[in-house]
Amino acid sequence: MGGVVFDYDSAPERYRLGMAVARASSTASLYEEVSSRLVALGARRTLDVGCADGALQSALPPGPLVVGLDAAAAMVRAHPPPVVRGDAARLPFADDSFDAVTALNMLYHLADPCAALREARRVLRAGGTLLASAIARSDSPELARFWRRPATSFDAEEAPALVAEVFDRVTVERWDAPLLTLADAAAVRDYLLGRQAPPSAALRAAAELPTPVRITKRGALVIASGGCA
Ligand SMILES: C[S@@+](CC[C@H](N)C(=O)[O-])C[C@H]1O[C@@H](n2cnc3c(N)ncnc32)[C@H](O)[C@@H]1O
Repeated sequence: MGGVVFDYDSAPERYRLGMAVARASSTASLYEEVSSRLVALGARRTLDVGCADGALQSALPPGPLVVGLDAAAAMVRAHPPPVVRGDAARLPFADDSFDAVTALNMLYHLADPCAALREARRVLRAGGTLLASAIARSDSPELARFWRRPATSFDAEEAPALVAEVFDRVTVERWDAPLLTLADAAAVRDYLLGRQAPPSAALRAAAELPTPVRITKRGALVIASGGCA
């Protein structure tokens, strides 16, 4: 499971580069999708675990409270308040504090994602909802000859089963579609750098891949409630 580097304090621009390319090149937004679901759920208090600099919060309409939590000081500084620095596996909140907990593209950083899932369950009120997203190992197959995403502890292939170890009602929305178009060589390079590909792979892909290129995005949003006994 090597390959996932925690560089959000040492190189926050790497994450921001990836987000900027995704925003400029995508036809769908995970954050808009999760925002709509939170509104439909009527969530008044949401905890966004691994909030980074607030992609989810900026997609939400004004009104409901979103508390951000992130392990990286650079991300906490950039997130609008309320936000706290903390660890997903030891949440600094009382039991039953939130209507919803989101963990978007972040559980793969944890060696034991179930520890964070148990914490999410603890801070959710009875009937509260977890929304956790995961990227598939087979994501972006058009770039596989240059770079493959390493296996992680929370890939979309296993994410629903891991969530089901902690929550007893689990539904999954998967995507597998050409949701992103990289317009030119710079976008190819930046997309790969943003995903922690080595610079040599990013530069080779930028030089060799004809553009524009459509990229197949594969992943899952796992929606869960109810704690297992
Ligand atoms: C790939 S970014 C995703 C950020 C955001 N949720 C999004 O979807 O754009 C992963 C985030 O999780 C944070 N993170 C990693 N491990 C963490 C942990 N154990 N506890 C809290 N945050 C963590 C990182 O600092 C980073 O901001």
